[in-house]
Amino acid sequence: MRVDVLTLFPRMFEGPFGESILKRAQDAALVDVHVHDIRDWATDRHRTVDDTPYGGGPGMVMRPEPLSRAIRSVRGGDGHVVLLSAQGRRFDEPTARRLAALTHLVLVAGHYEGVDERVVERDVDEELSIGDYVLTGGELPSMVVVDAVVRLVPGVIEAASLEQESHTGGLLEGPQYTRPVEHEGSRVPPVLLSGDHKAIAEWRRSESIRRTAERRPDLLASADLTPEERARLPRAVTPRARVGDDELIRAYRSGIGSYRIAARFGMSPATVRARLRDAGVRMRPARGAQRAPTAADVHRMRKTGMTIRELAKHFGVSHVTIIDRLRRSTP
Ligand SMILES: C[S@@+](CC[C@H](N)C(=O)[O-])C[C@H]1O[C@@H](n2cnc3c(N)ncnc32)[C@H](O)[C@@H]1O
Repeated sequence: MRVDVLTLFPRMFEGPFGESILKRAQDAALVDVHVHDIRDWATDRHRTVDDTPYGGGPGMVMRPEPLSRAIRSVRGGDGHVVLLSAQGRRFDEPTARRLAALTHLVLVAGHYEGVDERVVERDVDEELSIGDYVLTGGELPSMVVVDAVVRLVPGVIEAASLEQESHTGGLLEGPQYTRPVEHEGSRVPPVLLSGDHKAIAEWRRSESIRRTAERRPDLLASADLTPEERARLPRAVTPRARVGDDELIRAYRSGIGSYRIAARFGMSPATVRARLRDAGVRMRPARGAQRAPTAADVHRMRKTGMTIRELAKHFGVSHVTIIDRLRRSTP
């Protein structure tokens, strides 16, 4: 596969493209990545590539002539041209798979206020966005797309690693563990130590479905599920339906406190404790690590812009607790 990137800032790509898997893929000649400076197609002495917008308004717009010349020069007969744009269709794993099957991809990184619309009409095959926010340029989005696409090119990553990953088959991957067997009182699920490959595969599959139902129920409609798996999905995904008692008990017995369990499963600590008590679990006395967040904790996270609802979810407490902490002054 050949990838050409057109940018005003080619040096931004040196680090990400010169390390790790992207570097190895190029060294192994599995992909051929070329980064070009759009200014090389400018014709004036100052290598101008932008101008003020017609009709007025702030910022600059990338001029059509150098950019069109650049695209036409690198796309050849087989290049599929993608403009990175906040207005594009959302880039996702199926799109990465589609692009990974191409022989030649041309990525165009916009800058300033964007590119002249006539370039989009004449020289661009599709526009892709990496999320609903605006970045200063298309360089980082291009790197994201190249990374997601190149790892799917056959031979770049072991095929088995790709099989069970998040967004393969429309599901999230389940939890992963490595040595040691016990870490701070929390043990690896016994099935993973059993050596029973069938049981492990079944456990991974069910964890993957459970996690997707908990965290991204929106993915389930188009996920690759058997009719039996679909029939077993919870009808209304309420927190109680999502997290089984056995899971809460397992987490609690592994030594995790009710506040952290609550934060992990998106419920209140009071609900966690009530369900554990209902299930006949003997509760440990509260420890320092299980305490509710302090005013300082809450104020610190609030400064990152979290809403009260997000703070309540983050700390696993009610919004009343958050408001209470915010009213207190920090030490
Ligand atoms: C400051 S942005 C221009 C935003 C544009 N004025 C608009 O409102 O849509 C400059 C460039 O960054 C890139 N860019 C910004 N946000 C992006 C996103 N979410 N996904 C992909 N590219 C993005 C695009 O290439 C865009 O031309």
